Amino acid sequence: MLEKIEQLMQEIAALHAKNAQEAEALRIKYLSKKGEISQLMNDFRSVPAELKKEVGMKVNELKNLAQEKINALKEGAAGTDATGAGSVDLTRTPYPIQLGSRHPLTIVKNEIVDIFSRLGFTLAEGPEVEDDWHVYSSLNFADDHPARDMQDTFFVESHPDIILRSHTSSVQSRVMEKTQPPIRILCPGRVYRNEAVSARAHCFFHQIEGLYVDKNVSFTDLKQVLLLFAQELFGPDTKIRLRPSYFPFTEPSAEMDVSCSICGGKGCSMCKGSGWLEILGCGMVDPAVLDANGIDSSVYTGYAFGMGIERITNLKYQVKDLRMFSENDVRFLDEFTSAR
Ligand code: DAH
Repeated sequence: MLEKIEQLMQEIAALHAKNAQEAEALRIKYLSKKGEISQLMNDFRSVPAELKKEVGMKVNELKNLAQEKINALKEGAAGTDATGAGSVDLTRTPYPIQLGSRHPLTIVKNEIVDIFSRLGFTLAEGPEVEDDWHVYSSLNFADDHPARDMQDTFFVESHPDIILRSHTSSVQSRVMEKTQPPIRILCPGRVYRNEAVSARAHCFFHQIEGLYVDKNVSFTDLKQVLLLFAQELFGPDTKIRLRPSYFPFTEPSAEMDVSCSICGGKGCSMCKGSGWLEILGCGMVDPAVLDANGIDSSVYTGYAFGMGIERITNLKYQVKDLRMFSENDVRFLDEFTSAR
């Protein structure tokens, strides 16, 4: 009898099943009431008393082995059809289908575009590989303006006049040279600056530029549009503050702060205790810029504004490291599946 048990042990250890039916057939062969192991149990009666303990333990061992082996075969064969092809459960529901997520910068860009679309702004685009005229000269940058410096601008080696645009303001010039007012455009896009990559700076990032040129456009119009924008983006209690600033293409120029949406203006680590967060630059289009781009500055006035999308995304989602935006780490991207 011990020999028989030993032989069955080896047989069972080497069993295979191509599919669920075969695994079930093996269960019947070994483990059912009339199966081989039950037969052994019947023979157990005739085992001499002094061997009963040893044989009993062996039979139990065999039974456990057979159960484990056949369960494993069943699990491995689950979902295979009679030919053993595929190990997919074809009866499983395909739902929920896992959806991808939009990139956080796209989510925020869409939100900004959406707000300004409701105010009548339409989208405009320009090339990322630009010339000096559209990025600097047509926007009133003096020849020796530091922004043109090698440290900021990426130049094409053999053509110093061809550069990677360092701001989306270049699209203002692209549109004005082709279109007479009224002009009301929004220009989202990627820009490049020769910066060492770190948590707080990157050699490329994204901006959105706005431009409105028409008769009688005033600074008051600008202020009202920006207030509405800030309240749509950060909530109805948001306040704005305009601080005088300088940009070559606007006069007067300002930088806009919004009341800190994290602490509500009380002061926290995000706003460095000031209660305010800077989010954009803006101003009245300098008449020299209108004229340089073929628009009569004695008839028309305009305002412009520009903002960094990463900056606003950081404020909305508290992303601490700019590099996250271009690493495509799915654990980061997955956090935005429920955002719009
Ligand atoms: N181009 C500026 C920058 O990259 C942002 C900016 C400031 C755009 C003022 C504007 C503006 O249109 O009016 O820093």
